[in-house]
Amino acid sequence: MNIIRRRGWELPERAATPEHLFFNRRAFLAATGATLVAPGLASAEGAADTSDPSAHLYPAKRNEKYVLDRAITDEAINTTYNNFYEFGSAKTISRAAQALKLRPWTVKIDGMVAKPFEIGLDDLLAKMPLEERLYRHRCVEAWSMAIPWSGFPLAKLVELAQPLGSAKYLRMETFLDRAMAPGQRAVWYPWPYVEGLTIAEATNELAFLVTGAYGKPVSKSQGAPLRLAVPWKYGFKSIKSIVRFNFTDQRPNTFWEALQASEYGFWANVNPQVPHPRWSQATEELIGTGERRPTLLFNGYADYVANLYQGLEGERLWA
Ligand code: MTE
Repeated sequence: MNIIRRRGWELPERAATPEHLFFNRRAFLAATGATLVAPGLASAEGAADTSDPSAHLYPAKRNEKYVLDRAITDEAINTTYNNFYEFGSAKTISRAAQALKLRPWTVKIDGMVAKPFEIGLDDLLAKMPLEERLYRHRCVEAWSMAIPWSGFPLAKLVELAQPLGSAKYLRMETFLDRAMAPGQRAVWYPWPYVEGLTIAEATNELAFLVTGAYGKPVSKSQGAPLRLAVPWKYGFKSIKSIVRFNFTDQRPNTFWEALQASEYGFWANVNPQVPHPRWSQATEELIGTGERRPTLLFNGYADYVANLYQGLEGERLWA
């Protein structure tokens, strides 16, 4: 496996910085071929999919507990500047991602649970309390966004799954469909995309399963129809388009760790003082604004999650 191969997020920091030159709004719309639209309306990629059977569930009521220290990122930017390697390794996969077929969408819950089962996405949604949360999102590439996600606490899914006491980890898996997702034909990646959390992390109140964004079903490029948001960790932990939740006593071998363990580990908690081997994590670019800001420990969520790591100081918690 040749991991020297160029991936978008292996650019040195100085090479990634000039994005704001590109992401002034006018240049951005011209570059993506989007037509100018009235304020509040999104590009074609971000527009509501009226055929989505869950469309009536949005907008969900905002939970005011989760506040931002910055403006929400423009929807048109958030839905067209993505990492979704199933559809290619460039940031501009949003058009390719329109090939993602959202129904039927079945989620498998198995492993160390009282009784393994499968459930259709709309049946799952009917059981879950949907809400909107404003979350920061910090990519390991030193850029960030702020997003109004809709969805439900991952803890609610764990409760539904009834894990056995012996389960220590939750392993999550993205779909595998080489015909639909051309990126999955690239044989040097360990498909399907896998991520994992400890059960304590998965049941922390911040761990959120995203089904919507910007007041409607989440866009395909953002990982429809079911995607994780764990905002205190680098973005690669937030796995997209999930089809399987597996409870296990083995630490999952995650996608990026399998590819390059020296750079991407299991824990991947945000820490500005621990640089990536090839670039600093001290600051981040707020995509779409040109602004750089200091990065915060746990991406600003230490009050919620720092206690999860007490006693784990010997682990490689930060990368
Ligand atoms: N999930 C899958 N299945 N495939 C991916 O390539 N990329 C990850 C994460 N989840 C990825 C994924 C990375 S590196 C990041 S930064 C975020 O998704 C990007 O989410 P966004 O496109 O909504 O910003």
